[in-house]
Amino acid sequence: MPTQDYLVSIDVGTTKICTLVAAYHEDGKMSVIGVGNVPSQGIRRGVVVNIEETISSISASLEEAERMAGYPIQSAYVSIGGGHISSLNSRGVIAVSRADGEISHEDVARVIEAAQAISLPMNREILHVLPRGFIVDGQEGVENPAGMTGVRLEVETHIVNAASSSVRNLAKCVQQTGVEVEEVVLSPIAAAEAVLSSEDRELGVVLLDIGGGTTDIAIFVEGSIWHSTVLPVGSNHITNDIAIGLRIPFEAAEKIKKNTTLSMPTFEEGTLFEDVNRNNTIDLSHYGVENGSQVLRSDVNSIIEARLSEMFDMVGQEIKKAGQEGLLAGGCVMIGGGSLLSGIVDSAKENLRLPVRIGKPRDVIGLADEINSPLYVTPIGLLLWGMKSRRQREMVRVSPIQLWSNAFGKVRGWVKRSFFP
Ligand SMILES: Nc1ncnc2c1ncn2[C@@H]1O[C@H](COP(=O)(O)OP(=O)(O)OP(=O)(O)O)[C@@H](O)[C@H]1O
Ligand SMILES: [Mg+2]
Repeated sequence: MPTQDYLVSIDVGTTKICTLVAAYHEDGKMSVIGVGNVPSQGIRRGVVVNIEETISSISASLEEAERMAGYPIQSAYVSIGGGHISSLNSRGVIAVSRADGEISHEDVARVIEAAQAISLPMNREILHVLPRGFIVDGQEGVENPAGMTGVRLEVETHIVNAASSSVRNLAKCVQQTGVEVEEVVLSPIAAAEAVLSSEDRELGVVLLDIGGGTTDIAIFVEGSIWHSTVLPVGSNHITNDIAIGLRIPFEAAEKIKKNTTLSMPTFEEGTLFEDVNRNNTIDLSHYGVENGSQVLRSDVNSIIEARLSEMFDMVGQEIKKAGQEGLLAGGCVMIGGGSLLSGIVDSAKENLRLPVRIGKPRDVIGLADEINSPLYVTPIGLLLWGMKSRRQREMVRVSPIQLWSNAFGKVRGWVKRSFFP
C-alpha cells in the first residue's frame, strides 16, 4: 500500500478562515479530505487586530476540518496578506567557487543570499526570495544552474517583505491553537499555484484576489513572478458603500450586493417586459429593512460600479508601476469572493482593457465539489505550495528539523525559497 502523508493549509482572510486538510500519496497525488470554513473575527484588511478573536476563529476552523478529515492537525501552511506587504526585484552576483568552473548547489545558495543584500527598516522582514531566473556568464534564462560550467553566476529574484509585527502576530495566533507554522506564504503567490498555468505566466498575467478587506495582486512576466502587492480595499468596501448610500444595515447591503447583476438584464425568450421592469426596483423590505422603501436597481449598480472603477484603477496603476501596461497578453485572472459579483468580469475588462476570466482551482480531487470555487483558490494554492516545498526539501535531503532555523516558520535557508518560479 502506498504511504500517505498529510498537508494542511489555513487561509486567514478578513471575512473567512478556511482550513483544508489534504492527504498526499507518494505518487504525487493529493486529495482534500477536510474543510473547515468559519467567519473570521479579529482580522481587519488582512491583518490581525485582535489576537484572542483571531485565535478562536482559527481554532473553530481547525476543529471543523479535523472533524471532517479525522486527522489531528499538527502543522500548517498559512497565508498572509495586508497592506504592509511590499515587493521588489533584486539581482545577486557571485564568482563561481570551484576552479574547474562547475556550479555547485552551494554557489546557487550563495548567489541567492547575495540577492538578499537589500536594506530594510528594522521593523520589516523578508518573507520570500523567489528566483526568477539565473544568468551564467551573461547567458540569461537559466532555470537551474547547478552542474553547469561558468565563471560568473547571477540571479534575478523577486523579494517579498512584510511588517515583522504582522507576520509574528499571525504566526502567534496559529501557534496558540497548538499548530506549528510550516511556512507563512503571501496569499496571491500561493493562489497562483492553483490557478495559473505555465502558459499564463509565460504570456504575462495579473492575478487579482478580490477578498473582503483586501485585493491581492501578483503579476507574472516571462514565466515568473514580477510584482506582488496587497491593496487595502476589497469587496466589503462595496457593501459599505451600498449601506451608506441607501442608509441600510451592512447585512442588508451585503445581500443586495450578492443579488446584483451589473450588466443590463438580458431579454430571454418568453420574458414579459413587465417582469424586467418590475425587477428594476428593489424592495428594501425584502432585505429585512424596516420601513423599507423602494430603490432603483440602477442606483445600486452605480454605487457598485463607482467603487469597482476605483479599485480597477488602483490595479491599473500597479500594472503601470510594474512597467507592464499593455503587455499582459495572458490578461487578468480574478479569484476571491469579490469575483463572484455578477457582471464583474465585464467591468474589469472595460476598466483594465485586458482579457479577464474567473479563476477556478485546477486539479482538485477529494472534496472537489465543495471547494471548486474562486473562494478556495488560496487555501488550495497553499497546499500545492506546501507539496512543492516538501518535495524540494526531500530532494536536497535536508532534515526538516535543520530547516527550522527560526521561530514562526520563517525559514532563512535558501532551500525553501529556491526553485519556486
Ligand atoms: N456571491 C457573491 N457575490 C458577490 N460578492 C460575494 C459573493 N460571495 C462572497 N462575496 C464577497 O466576497 C468577499 C469575501 O471574499 P473572500 O472570502 O475571498 O475574502 P477573505 O479571503 O476572507 O478576505 P481577504 O482576502 O480580503 O482577507 C465579501 O466581501 C463578500 O461579500
Ligand atoms: Mg482572501
